[in-house]
Parts: sequence; C-alpha cells; structure tokens
Amino acid sequence: MSGAKPVILDVDTGVDDALAILLAVRHPALDVRAITCTGGNAPLAQVVTNTLRVLDAAGAGPTPVAAGAHRPLLEAPQHAAAIHGSDGLADLGLPDSGRTPEPVHAVELLRRALADSEEPLTIISLAPLTNIALLLRTHPEVIDRIERVVMMGGAVGTGNATAAAEFNVWHDPEAAAIVLGAGLDVLMYGLEPFYCVGVSHDDVRRLLAAEGAAPRLAGALLTHLIGIDATEERVADDRVAIGDAGAVCAAIDPAPLVTRVAPVEVALAPGATRGQTIVDLRTMVGADISAARDALPATVVLDVDSEPYRRLFLDALLGP
Ligand code: RIB
Ligand code: CA
Repeated sequence: MSGAKPVILDVDTGVDDALAILLAVRHPALDVRAITCTGGNAPLAQVVTNTLRVLDAAGAGPTPVAAGAHRPLLEAPQHAAAIHGSDGLADLGLPDSGRTPEPVHAVELLRRALADSEEPLTIISLAPLTNIALLLRTHPEVIDRIERVVMMGGAVGTGNATAAAEFNVWHDPEAAAIVLGAGLDVLMYGLEPFYCVGVSHDDVRRLLAAEGAAPRLAGALLTHLIGIDATEERVADDRVAIGDAGAVCAAIDPAPLVTRVAPVEVALAPGATRGQTIVDLRTMVGADISAARDALPATVVLDVDSEPYRRLFLDALLGP
C-alpha cells in the first residue's frame, strides 16, 4: 500500500496477538510484509496454526508466515493456557486454514524481508524476543535495515508473569537483553499502556453483532478476556484491555503516548527479579551513588491517552 509503513509482526498467537493481527492487516497505515512466530502463549506449532487462522478471519491477502524458535534461548518454555485457552485462541474452534507457512525459519524470513525491502522496516514484537535476538546474532548485517522495534514487553513497575517481570521478557530474558542492547531504536510498550488501552463491554457487543468474520472474532476474543478478568477478580469497570493490539496502535500513531528515553536493563540473575526490566528514570545520576548508566536507552511508554487508540481499533474492525 503506497505510503503505508512497512512492518513485520513477531507473534506468539495468543488471544491478544490475534487482536493485534486483525488490526495490523486491516489498517491502511500499515503494510504487513511478514509475520514470524515463536513459542510463548502456546507451543510454536499451535502459534503458527492460530496465526494462519486469524489471517483468514482478517481477510488478509497473501502474507508470508514462518515458524521460528520453539523455546527460549536458555529457559524452558512456559505457556499461558490459563489466559489464552488450551489452543491459545480461547478454544473458539476456528476452522483450519488453507494457508501454509513459508518453508524457511522465521529468522530467514526476517532477514529476507529486511534485505529485500526498499526501505527500512519496523518490527512489531508481540512475543518473547527469541526470534529477534537470533536474527541479530545470525545476521548483524540487517541491523541498519530495521527502522524501529516496537516491543510489547517489560514494565516500568509491577510485572504480570511474576511480581517483577512481564511475560514476554520473563519468558526469554536473554533475548530481551540482546535486543535492548543492540543499539536499535526501541519503543518499549510495556504493561503500563498494555493494560490501559481497551474497549468497553458495549464496544464488544457491537463487534459481536457486526457483519464479517474479523469483528466477530475480535468480539469473541474480547469476551474471553472479559471472562478472564472476572475470574482474576481484576477490578473491571466496563472495559477490557486489547493488549498486544495497543502496541500496533503505537506503531500506527505514537501521538497518544507519554514516553521518556531512559536506560533499560534486563535483570538476568536467577531469583525473584529475573526478567525484570529496570527502567532508570532518575533525572540525575549522582556520581557518588551510582556507576555511570551503562544500559542502552529505549523510548519507554509511561502512559497513554487510551481513547484515540480505542477509536483506532474499532474503526479498523468496524469501519469508520
Ligand atoms: O505480558 C503480555 C504479553 O505476554 C502479551 O504479548 C501476551 O500475548 C503475552 O505474550
Ligand atoms: Ca503476545
């Protein structure tokens, strides 16, 4: 699409990854060049199956999809069936897709898409960062073809997988450290905006009642998340977070974001803080109290005006 921003999605589809894919392939501001899969919310093979099924529901054109890392670089995989259902897509029983993944590894699909593109690409990472880390270690020559990494991951404050760590970083802390330490332009879309951007329960009812597979799938996935919120006794007004889809909103239009450029370090030591993203928001580093900041900076999202992103998401799914 002329003028659209060329992007690659890296996913662990997953309920909210599915919302993100529905938005990304339907929004005119993005040109989705490829989707790469990694294990995370669900095992890798299931993530690939889910991604192909969601592309069908989205009415997407031919979109290269490839399987990547089965598991993190060091950690054992730990899937999130309690949140995403046993099949990773809320056990909705979506029909099999006639699409097939590319016969190459995700790292090769990423390398090829970056090398062949006439302009640098934005990588929207919605999963553990294993594929991206492997790309950087295997093909350092493509780094200058990466415009930006919009990374759904990390947290300034409390985690979700543990008290300290957000799931995507916690799942593969070494991969996150490699990506954050590569000198790339990284937008860290962490848990603060992740849980803030959402739609109302009335919006969900509108999606369910709409014509077309995409809005109805979005409505069914969000209905599943409303149920999860209820079982987790999360203080729910009448809203439900759109999760990863918010990171796609951020790639489309960063205006609603409140950000700070700050050093971000990933805690790798075993123990309660492993996988924590330590965002150094100090405005002055006293020479006598702390070593110079040696972690590389990222653009960290501290807050977001969620209403523009609610409208952006709904317009893409329901039509303006
Ligand atoms: O912590 C939230 C992240 O972990 C989201 O990307 C969700 O899909 C899971 O992968
Ligand atoms: Ca995800």
